[in-house]
Amino acid sequence: MKLIVTGAKGMLAGDLLPLLEDYEVRAFTKEELDIRDEEAIRAALAEENPHILVNCAAYTNVDGAEDEEEMAYTINARAPGFLAQECKRIGARLVHISTDFVFDGSKPRPYTEEDLPKPLNFYGLSKLDGEREIQKHTDNFVIIRTSWLYGHRGKNFPKTILTRAGELEELRVVYDQVGTPTYTVDLAHAIVELLSAPAGIYNFSNEGVASWYDFAYNIVELAKKEAVALRVKTIRPILSEELNLKATRPHYSVLHKDKYRRYTGLPIPHWLDGLERWLSRELRARKNEGDVR
Ligand SMILES: NC(=O)c1ccc[n+]([C@@H]2O[C@H](COP(=O)([O-])OP(=O)(O)OC[C@H]3O[C@@H](n4cnc5c(N)ncnc54)[C@H](OP(=O)(O)O)[C@@H]3O)[C@@H](O)[C@H]2O)c1
Repeated sequence: MKLIVTGAKGMLAGDLLPLLEDYEVRAFTKEELDIRDEEAIRAALAEENPHILVNCAAYTNVDGAEDEEEMAYTINARAPGFLAQECKRIGARLVHISTDFVFDGSKPRPYTEEDLPKPLNFYGLSKLDGEREIQKHTDNFVIIRTSWLYGHRGKNFPKTILTRAGELEELRVVYDQVGTPTYTVDLAHAIVELLSAPAGIYNFSNEGVASWYDFAYNIVELAKKEAVALRVKTIRPILSEELNLKATRPHYSVLHKDKYRRYTGLPIPHWLDGLERWLSRELRARKNEGDVR
């Protein structure tokens, strides 16, 4: 089976591509294939004729999207719609990644695939319209909603916490946003499991729930156990409004994952388990680079 992967230099793609050894894969970076470029998409699909296109490309700067609406919307909504249209034309399936930020967080229980989306910020709106555009153009899609991703490429929350905890005595972290941190390696395994699943929307995150404060606290505690040299003494829980960020985030965005479990029959690793694996791989990589902290 032949796959195209877009956004190949991104955080998720970095952990997905190594899992696709059983497939014939053509991975495109943004420089090689800009998903806004309709002619380039058409040419790539005609040339490669894949069975599945996995779209890992996205505009992912949640606060930036408030200022760059046109760019965020073109990449997250219009381009997935065009990908869906062209996939349908050549008989390929589109696998696409969406977000817990399509929800407003007012539900006190985990969100199912059927719950009504109501994004609070422009990023969430652009991702929701991306889902809708895809469904308008093809029936042969798998959309995977996920949350709070972290991996080994680029900037992400655990990397930022480790850096700041190495420099500062006090960290301030919000405790009024609750969700599930998700390790990109675990999401990448889930994507592989869902490549041939019945078409539809699937939720996938790691198991369990946490606030960003809980997440930061556990990053620091695990790093201490691994003898990482840190300056931090206090992690102070704060409210979201104290951060003054441009985009409003949902206070609660835990995803209900029974549909994934029922289809795959597989257990989902707890987020703390994911975090432990992330940290040991991250520390191993830093050691190999000579950056032992
Ligand atoms: N990160 C999270 O917490 C989170 C949470 C829920 C869902 N998601 C979703 O998960 C998916 C993967 O996210 P990620 O964290 O791996 O994001 P990422 O690291 O930002 O990767 C996205 C990749 O897409 C590329 N890209 C941007 N515009 C493009 C374009 N026009 N054409 C082709 N490629 C383009 C980016 O390149 P440049 O970096 O050079 O722009 C980057 O390499 C996204 O759909 C995202 O919305 C993410």
